Amino acid sequence: MSEHKIPLAGVIGCPISHSKSPRLHGHWLKTYGIAGHYVHLHIEKEDFPDALRNMPKLGFVGCNVTIPYKIAALEIADVITDRASMIGAANTLTFRDGKIYADNTDGYGFTANVWQGEPDWKPDLGPALVLGAGGAARAIIVALLDSGVPEIILTNRTRANAEALRSDFGAKVRVVEWVNAGDAIADAHTIVNTTSLGMKGGPEFKVNLDKLRADQLVTDIVYTPLRTHLLNEAEKAGCRTVDGLGMLLHQAVPGFERWFGKRPEVTEELRQLMLAG
Ligand code: ATR
Repeated sequence: MSEHKIPLAGVIGCPISHSKSPRLHGHWLKTYGIAGHYVHLHIEKEDFPDALRNMPKLGFVGCNVTIPYKIAALEIADVITDRASMIGAANTLTFRDGKIYADNTDGYGFTANVWQGEPDWKPDLGPALVLGAGGAARAIIVALLDSGVPEIILTNRTRANAEALRSDFGAKVRVVEWVNAGDAIADAHTIVNTTSLGMKGGPEFKVNLDKLRADQLVTDIVYTPLRTHLLNEAEKAGCRTVDGLGMLLHQAVPGFERWFGKRPEVTEELRQLMLAG
């Protein structure tokens, strides 16, 4: 008699115990009454390729991958989505029919969060100013261009990192000096902080914000604190603002849907649960 397997998923990293993804997926499993489990998977670098290939045999239907495995996962995957390939990293893997499918949902999470916070956002109305040029910036630039933003104004402390991104995206990305970031605000319709500046316990966000205007939408990927200095100043200037917590929640939606067969909702209850301790 064959037994019906309980689907497993998890998040692989090293270290991984800090990840709140099990809390997030656990909430959805419980809310929708789905028999499944989502666990922390601490896997050492030398074990990662074998561990990944063996997961389906153990009952895993998919997993998230985080630091330091986002690039290595792409190398092992059999099928890669265009957006994961553009971003050069994967965060969501699905095991199906003996194959590993790799996707990157960070950019999707970014735009889904903005749309949920500001349904009237009109990305095509003008350029987006992107502060920072790390992995998050790359995913967000892909998503902004896909949403119809006509131009990306990119600024980063280390100009070479911004230039490297620009060379991958071509003419729609224009690089400006970090010292001129405050002036570049005047040219933008959408403003996104993708750096870690302003995060609790880290360096302050010091870009000059005098040029913020009420017709702009401002969003930050930092969500500790939820209301960052950037968002507070933007609100004072009359801008629409969207905090960064929802990006983390929305990026998890496509994986949950693929693995457990239900498209989950990002609710206020879930936001509060993620903020708790
Ligand atoms: P992620 O992959 O999560 O985006 P990352 O690759 O470490 O993280 O990128 C962090 C971003 O924050 C980078 O753009 C980084 O600028 P550099 O390219 O100059 O390193 C930016 N950043 C981090 N600390 C900063 C600081 N003190 N001042 C200005 N920018 C900073």
